[in-house]
Amino acid sequence: MPLWWPKSIFMDSFSWYATDTSNDHKPCMKKSVPLCSQSNLQLRFLCHNDIEEVQALCQTCFPIYYPYSWYLDITSNPRFYSLAAVYDGVIIGLIVAEIKPYVKLNEEDQDILSASMESYTQVGYILSLGVSPDHRRNGVASLLLDNLISHLTTAENSSCKAVFLHVLTTNSAAIQFYEQRHFRLHSFVPFYYFIGNKFKDGFTYVLYINGGHPPWGVLYYARHFCQSLCRRESSAWLWHKVEHVIRWLWNGARRMVHDNGSPSAVSHYH
Ligand SMILES: CC(C)(COP(=O)(O)OP(=O)(O)OC[C@H]1O[C@@H](n2cnc3c(N)ncnc32)[C@H](O)[C@@H]1OP(=O)(O)O)[C@@H](O)C(=O)NCCC(=O)NCCS
Repeated sequence: MPLWWPKSIFMDSFSWYATDTSNDHKPCMKKSVPLCSQSNLQLRFLCHNDIEEVQALCQTCFPIYYPYSWYLDITSNPRFYSLAAVYDGVIIGLIVAEIKPYVKLNEEDQDILSASMESYTQVGYILSLGVSPDHRRNGVASLLLDNLISHLTTAENSSCKAVFLHVLTTNSAAIQFYEQRHFRLHSFVPFYYFIGNKFKDGFTYVLYINGGHPPWGVLYYARHFCQSLCRRESSAWLWHKVEHVIRWLWNGARRMVHDNGSPSAVSHYH
């Protein structure tokens, strides 16, 4: 069942609506956050009643086994920001995220932000993002992610300085998706996953938001420098700066040699 709407319309012209909870045994987790609706596609929060559908979708999308308690949690626990993309009444995509205090991150994720960050700093973590195979490349994941990022960049969440996730190193579709959405590779995490009785490596990808940034350090500057060099529009500016520094060093060296009375010592550099 391919989606038929043009992506430009799909991405740009949603009207906002509140979740309808009338058929649920348990209420949906949140009701007041604006979600979207356009023709037959809607975004809404997951409810307890969605468990079976969500389970089926996750089994199609992910190679990882999740226990029932996990499905229960993501559909009912308000600590999760769990959104469904619903097409013609069927859940075709979902995103599950949570906001955690930065100080409570696992050791391997601690260097996402500088250690000097205030103790109340928070980060968003994407546990799952999946779209049913029949509906991929139609902007559904982008829409779900946009909604999450809008939520994380509200004034209420201004202490949330980054959003990150783990992804299998072999999952090139997801890697391309996140890179296209300006997430940057943060680290390689060996044996992060245990799938089919085998350990598999993961990557951590990060998007900095609300003024967050990676810890300043030599590596960061080196990476930043290389990235800037690769960008055509900034390379001229960079080269101008480098030239300026070289000229400044050169003049300083000439002055020193001149003061020492041996100008010939530098003349072969001309
Ligand atoms: C990764 C995934 C969520 C993308 O969902 P999607 O709805 O197809 O993504 P979108 O349509 O919003 O894609 C936006 C952009 O991401 C990139 N992208 C998405 N899927 C891609 C793929 N298979 N190959 C290359 N680039 C891809 C493209 O740049 C795409 O834009 P384009 O279609 O204009 O070229 C989907 O492939 C999926 O569910 N995979 C299985 C589950 C998974 O791996 N989840 C991520 C781990 S948390």
